[in-house]
Amino acid sequence: MNFVIAVDGPAASGKGTVAGRLALAYDLPYLDTGMLYRAVGALAGSTGGDFRTAAITWASALNPESVYDPQLRGGRVGDLASRAAAIPEVRGALLDFQRSFATQAGGAVLDGRDIGTVIAPSAPAKLFVTAAPEIRAERRWKQLAGHGETVSFEEVLADIRLRDARDSGRASAPLVQAADAVLLDTSEMDISQSVEAARRIVEAARGRWETSHSG
Ligand code: CDP
Repeated sequence: MNFVIAVDGPAASGKGTVAGRLALAYDLPYLDTGMLYRAVGALAGSTGGDFRTAAITWASALNPESVYDPQLRGGRVGDLASRAAAIPEVRGALLDFQRSFATQAGGAVLDGRDIGTVIAPSAPAKLFVTAAPEIRAERRWKQLAGHGETVSFEEVLADIRLRDARDSGRASAPLVQAADAVLLDTSEMDISQSVEAARRIVEAARGRWETSHSG
């Protein structure tokens, strides 16, 4: 039994919160795939020299089990992450780990940009979480300010627009809603409403999945 929940969406859409809560609710292991790209971006950015070469080298050497570091949530790292994520060799180096995570016995929750399209295309539950850019920027700005980062709302909005364009426009695994993903627009929702709406979507998917696996 391998119930996989794929959560994709643009920056600061609330997908991480939704994915984390779903993992708790269904008692499934959770992978925030953005952390992998953030780790590679941060390492490549501090290496100096050619960014592309450094990113490919770091992606190949990365231990994906140990990338969790709250420092990687910073605003500048998001930009480095999306630059690294546009490099096909970087994506290729991180593929096996993510696919294995998604196919582990018992199921899993993964969030990112290409979970429903590339990493786990046969996931029985797929959500595409989004919100208006200004609302996402406000959420991210509050989050960064809460962590002591001095950054203006305008800067955060510009970063979000730049990353949206880069993530959606890249040739390799662009940010796109999978044909069978359910759209969840959280623009008008707070966290508990978003989580509640996500649970309803997953419950419906789980019902269909259980029916198709019974008998
Ligand atoms: O939290 P936020 O949405 O700002 O970013 P994230 O999910 O931590 O991802 C950081 C960057 O990594 C994104 O802007 C993408 O360029 C990239 N990424 C990706 O390409 N594919 C994924 N599965 C996850 C993240």
